[in-house]
Amino acid sequence: MLSLGENFNAGYEAVSRTKTGTDSRAAGSRTRLLVVDDEKHFQNFLTRGLGSAGFDLVCANHWAEARQLLANGQAFPDVVVVEPLAAQIDLRQICADCRSTPVVVLSASRDPQSIVRAIRSGALDYLCKPVDLKRLEQVVGEALKAERLERRAEPVRTPARSRNQSQFVFCSPKMKQIEQVALQIANARVPVLIQGESGVGKDIIARIIHSHSKIANKPFVKVNCAALPSELTESELFGCQRGAFTGALADRPGKFEFANGGTIFLDEIGEFSPSVQAKLLQVLQDGRFTRLGSNNEMRVDVRIVAATNRKLEDAISNGTFREDLYYRLNVVSIDVPPLRERREEIPSLADYFLTKYTAEYRTPAEPIPPDLMELFITFHWPGNVRELENVVRRYVVLQDAEGIRAELESRLSKQMGGQIEALAESYLHENPESVDLKEVSRRAAFMVEKSMIIKTLRNTSWNKWRAAKELKVSYKTLLTKIEQYDIKPRPY
Ligand SMILES: Nc1ncnc2c1ncn2[C@@H]1O[C@H](COP(=O)(O)OP(=O)(O)OP(=O)(O)O)[C@@H](O)[C@H]1O
Ligand SMILES: [Mg+2]
Repeated sequence: MLSLGENFNAGYEAVSRTKTGTDSRAAGSRTRLLVVDDEKHFQNFLTRGLGSAGFDLVCANHWAEARQLLANGQAFPDVVVVEPLAAQIDLRQICADCRSTPVVVLSASRDPQSIVRAIRSGALDYLCKPVDLKRLEQVVGEALKAERLERRAEPVRTPARSRNQSQFVFCSPKMKQIEQVALQIANARVPVLIQGESGVGKDIIARIIHSHSKIANKPFVKVNCAALPSELTESELFGCQRGAFTGALADRPGKFEFANGGTIFLDEIGEFSPSVQAKLLQVLQDGRFTRLGSNNEMRVDVRIVAATNRKLEDAISNGTFREDLYYRLNVVSIDVPPLRERREEIPSLADYFLTKYTAEYRTPAEPIPPDLMELFITFHWPGNVRELENVVRRYVVLQDAEGIRAELESRLSKQMGGQIEALAESYLHENPESVDLKEVSRRAAFMVEKSMIIKTLRNTSWNKWRAAKELKVSYKTLLTKIEQYDIKPRPY
């Protein structure tokens, strides 16, 4: 006799087969939702509201009932929508049961800690009641897209829910989309430009592109242009002939020759000098170049992936970067968002670095305390993933949760002062001729007001009545300001 678990999994095998085999969700077909919620009128509301929008719903009052429906083959969901307050079981277990089927939380709880817990348990998104049906449709659509990517991209991913040996950890829709683009263009021998702040993971993405291409067994050569003195960049990239400059004692091949047949990764491309830019343009056009000090033309077949953390458009407008080179490089462009725009990845990244460094330093470390993890999620991480990695490494080595907490909190409070300064700077940049003090003050007031409203809403678990009371404004005024500043509930 099958146990409930085996039965359940058998039911799920059927779900997966339907999805990967005949793909019953082909264009135009209906999306199947399993809704776990014990409020009958809410079940009816969703069934009515979503039924006409192309969804088929099966509802259960709690997770045990949902499992039964799955085990009996009465539900074959594409996405599971669950109210944890009704499920009567830990969300982590639900996500584990659901395996690759995405789980979206739709809950009456607006407690930030519940939101953090849900995302850490493996839920793909968290919506608060009362729900906006359009938003729910959108979230389900994104969940399906993410799940499809997950299936296609199995070999390189390390998502929050199914960590494997790979080192690329991500789960946000934005990063999933980036991975999809990277995999799609891996075999197209077009140049790729990866843009993003320092520490966001541009190197990793460049390596993914190479390792998924047909030339994966050929060299991957990285050149960090910023690390080279400008006069050496040219000989480093294109090689030099003996006597080309003082110190060039022998003929030397450059990185382009080493990379022949494979990929060259040009990091910090915004730092290239004009002469190197001109040579690079030529290589991009026809694969030809000459070694420094030589007239012999050489030819290479190299795929170029470039990265920059400077805005190249700015470099073009101030004349330090060639526009024609920019368009040649930018055939495919990948913009990697800063970590603060994909905070949902912070817990899985932090856990991943914790495991990595406990193994590397052979030091047992306590799991990151929940309040420190919440601070990690709130922090703005100017150094992005690299900074988070360094902080977790420090946690493993020094085990000083208190010290880390104090430092992050003090930096967080300084950030506000910094923002005001940045506002003044940007105003001066926009209006170098004349400063309208009233206008500057108005903008600063807006900024502080918005920030205070968000803080208070968070402190009151997004209870607008309480927030209005604490802010000493009317409920209506608060609603107007929320709309004016486009403030939306987000996990931190
Ligand atoms: N998604 C990720 N999963 C695991 N580790 C990551 C991820 N993103 C970044 N890292 C780690 O963070 C550090 C910085 O990443 P990376 O070097 O790729 O950033 P970068 O954008 O190239 O930065 P820079 O502009 O300074 O060169 C590396 O140690 C990298 O392993
Ligand atoms: Mg880099």
